[in-house]
Amino acid sequence: MMALLTSALALLLASVPIYVNADISVLVGTWSSGSMKVQTGSGFANPAQVSFTYPNTSGISYSFAAKDSTTEGDPWYEIARYRFTSNGSQPNCITAAMNWVHGTYAEADNGSIILTPNGDGYQQIQDPCAAVSNFIENYNDTELLVNGYYTFTDATLGLALQLYSFDGSLLAPMYQVSSTPNMLPTQQLRNVTAATQVIQRRGNGVRSSPRTSTGFTLVPTAAVAVVILAIGSSLL
Ligand SMILES: *[C@@H]1O[C@H](CO)[C@@H](O)[C@H](O)[C@H]1NC(C)=O
Ligand SMILES: *[C@@H]1O[C@H](CO)[C@@H](O)[C@H](O)[C@H]1NC(C)=O
Ligand SMILES: *[C@@H]1O[C@H](CO)[C@@H](O)[C@H](O)[C@H]1NC(C)=O
Ligand SMILES: *[C@@H]1O[C@H](CO)[C@@H](O)[C@H](O)[C@H]1NC(C)=O
Ligand SMILES: *[C@@H]1O[C@H](CO)[C@@H](O)[C@H](O)[C@H]1NC(C)=O
Repeated sequence: MMALLTSALALLLASVPIYVNADISVLVGTWSSGSMKVQTGSGFANPAQVSFTYPNTSGISYSFAAKDSTTEGDPWYEIARYRFTSNGSQPNCITAAMNWVHGTYAEADNGSIILTPNGDGYQQIQDPCAAVSNFIENYNDTELLVNGYYTFTDATLGLALQLYSFDGSLLAPMYQVSSTPNMLPTQQLRNVTAATQVIQRRGNGVRSSPRTSTGFTLVPTAAVAVVILAIGSSLL
């Protein structure tokens, strides 16, 4: 009940663009939405293998490291996302996306948080209705968290963090998993090649001959990124 009320309050607050001038240090730690099965750190992405461990439920997780006053650089962030989206015109076509990225974050003058990727991020898209139904690609999008951010206490799940997507929409509220960030090592974790790994083609009954089987049409990264970001907090 309290969780519902809290969500209702969050939605109410979301309808009014707000900028909470909170200290950015409230972000520090590891946060995870919903049933908290999706978490940054070693249990989600294995960059050396360009692979993922699939959590039991979908969700998003963000980690933020504290600013280290002894070094010049911006502190690190890491994101783990496992999301589903359905297509209104094709309700049977549920797209699943696993996404991992890390890099450094900084607060802009207008209060937005800029997440600058390190270049070694990647994602796996599974779309049963697409020409290529399952593939992995590099993911290196700079992301913006706008409108500020705030923490609140959920009666059941404890300390929670509300962030806003680049378009001002609410991200799913996330709960504090740890007050210190659980992250993979904050350095480049794989050498990035242009190659996109096609894991599996759609079983559409059309068998391509070995000679033509390399001629896959890949979704442009930008288009995929839009889809990924558009998934937002739906179904979470
Ligand atoms: C998913 O749930 C099963 C059964 O509870 C468990 O054995 C398994 O480790 C879980 N997988 C992950 C990735 O957490
Ligand atoms: C939904 O499916 C239609 C028909 O295949 C396609 O044209 C459209 O781009 C899809 N929309 C999204 C958001 O994937
Ligand atoms: C805030 O500043 C960033 C960095 O300069 C910029 O990219 C963004 O468009 C600005 N506006 C919002 C709403 O974040
Ligand atoms: C990833 O994006 C950042 C920020 O735009 C850029 O500096 C970096 O060169 C990119 N890395 C790769 C491998 O594309
Ligand atoms: C990238 O490649 C170089 C040269 O082969 C190697 O020394 C380095 O360990 C690799 N880095 C990672 C993160 O795999």
